[in-house]
Amino acid sequence: MKIEEHYPLKHLNTFGIDATARYFAEVRSADDLLELVRRAEFRQAKKLILGGGSNILFTQPFDGLVIRIAIPGIELTAHGAGVAKVRAGAGVNWQDLVDWTLDRNLAGLENLSLIPGTAGAAPVQNIGAYGAEFKDVFEELQAFDLETGDMRTFLLKECGFGYRTSVFKNEFRGRHVILSVSLRLLDLSTNGTAFRPVTVYGELGKRIEGIPSGELTPRSVSEAVIAIRRAKLPDPKRLGNAGSFFKNPVIPAAQAQALLSAYPGMPRFTEPNGVKIPAGWLIEQCGWKGKRVGNAGCHEHQALVLVNYGPATAKEILGLAYNIQRSVREKFGIDLMPEVNIV
Ligand code: EPU
Repeated sequence: MKIEEHYPLKHLNTFGIDATARYFAEVRSADDLLELVRRAEFRQAKKLILGGGSNILFTQPFDGLVIRIAIPGIELTAHGAGVAKVRAGAGVNWQDLVDWTLDRNLAGLENLSLIPGTAGAAPVQNIGAYGAEFKDVFEELQAFDLETGDMRTFLLKECGFGYRTSVFKNEFRGRHVILSVSLRLLDLSTNGTAFRPVTVYGELGKRIEGIPSGELTPRSVSEAVIAIRRAKLPDPKRLGNAGSFFKNPVIPAAQAQALLSAYPGMPRFTEPNGVKIPAGWLIEQCGWKGKRVGNAGCHEHQALVLVNYGPATAKEILGLAYNIQRSVREKFGIDLMPEVNIV
């Protein structure tokens, strides 16, 4: 395995930030990883695990070892009684996995179509979109513990999945390297297994209503999701970004009630622990949507996405994020928390 020094990361983060890694290596198997972390010079080094680099903002050179996970492979591990279990190597591109399942008429990933990133990164923040979350299809995952050197299987109840969060983002941050994920999907090729699309997300529901029932398949739902995403979200290949920059805040019901009297049109979703307000709406209300400051900007179709218009520095992006946070705090008394991993 090749270990690079002072390695440029610009092409490995979708924000397109020009950062470097003191050391860099790409691992294609669990053995590669073992070999790498056992090397004496890296035992004490700071380590950063990188997947697709689609949810990260590098703010400085990384003074340690960046390990890019490129473990390949997708396989059907079990099927029967309308259920299919699929295991994917952590380095598999998420959309390649979605396509693999759609090609075999397996249901479960269609609402999560076109999310950038890798299969191994999906559990870290419990990716979600259009009424579905990674945890809904999760069976188990294999991880390597950098502290003990052991392999470990995590079952659903051990992952602490929540809205854009998991144990891998909290108490186990930086400790476990996810090697593979196993999913439990619906196998529609089995006689009598009915496809029930998740249509709770309004815009998707409306598009699905337009699909004749005979043509309603995981693939057609995926195509509807892709059309919605393409209309709203910038393609990182054309315009650097890391998807939603902030999480949608959940505020106490009383605070939501008070805000509603001032802003009767405020979109809101009742959650078990309060009321979720779309951060994109809050940001738009503060006048930031479509604004550009230097090379950083707030996307014209989705205010929650910050973009890199040119060679923006992380400082420019962070400066814009900070000013947006300040506006939202002053106008609404709500603190926006970053969803992107700031390193
Ligand atoms: N809205 C605005 N202005 C905006 C953006 C949104 O007013 O500029 C309001 C609208 O009322 C809209 C509502 O916010 O109906 C929700 O917007 P949208 O459906 O675009 O979803 P979101 O809550 O802004 C979340 C995820 C996205 C995911 C979509 C669809 C988070 C942080 N983001 O965005 O995920 O694609 O829902 O399910 O939860 C990501 O995580 O990177 C990401 C893109």
